[in-house]
Amino acid sequence: MQAQSDVRIETDCSLPVDSVVRLYRDGGWWKDSDDPAAIPLLLKGSFMVASAWAGRDLVGMGRVLSDGFSDAYIQDVVVLRNFRGKGIGGRLVAHLRDRCIDLGILWVGLIAEPGTTSFYERLGFNAMPGNVPMVLRPARHAGESI
Ligand SMILES: CC(C)(COP(=O)(O)OP(=O)(O)OC[C@H]1O[C@@H](n2cnc3c(N)ncnc32)[C@H](O)[C@@H]1OP(=O)(O)O)[C@@H](O)C(=O)NCCC(=O)NCCS
Repeated sequence: MQAQSDVRIETDCSLPVDSVVRLYRDGGWWKDSDDPAAIPLLLKGSFMVASAWAGRDLVGMGRVLSDGFSDAYIQDVVVLRNFRGKGIGGRLVAHLRDRCIDLGILWVGLIAEPGTTSFYERLGFNAMPGNVPMVLRPARHAGESI
């Protein structure tokens, strides 16, 4: 069994596409119709990417979208199923959180997937009562005038 101390966390935007697809699949975010060519673009467009490595294998990642000054959003935190429960997800989030704070970015937010609230609370995040996460459904939006 892999001890969590054997897993190293790095900050790196150029991750192997196949390994990221595997992670996104394990996170339940990847559809067969999705295009792997998008992966380098979304990594390159991220403000910060943290990756977790067991030897040469990518076993976890998380990324930050940010203006680099004021606000940041942590996104796509995922650990390969077989590596969960060993503290790797917590280390990834702490890594991204601490680097944002070090850069003076003091508003760091995220949308917690159902079931992950206590995971993020232990890392210093708090629910924002009254606020509602919203997302645009492009198909519904099409044709509407503003
Ligand atoms: C959430 C995730 C990244 C946590 O990674 P991890 O390496 O297992 O995290 P850690 O080992 O640092 O912490 C695990 C703790 O979080 C809890 N936890 C995390 N996700 C959970 C979930 N969906 N439901 C219940 N508990 C969860 C675990 O029960 C565990 O608590 P414990 O230490 O009291 O047993 C991982 O479960 C994952 O990849 N999930 C699928 C993708 C996802 O939902 N990402 C979150 C996006 S907001």
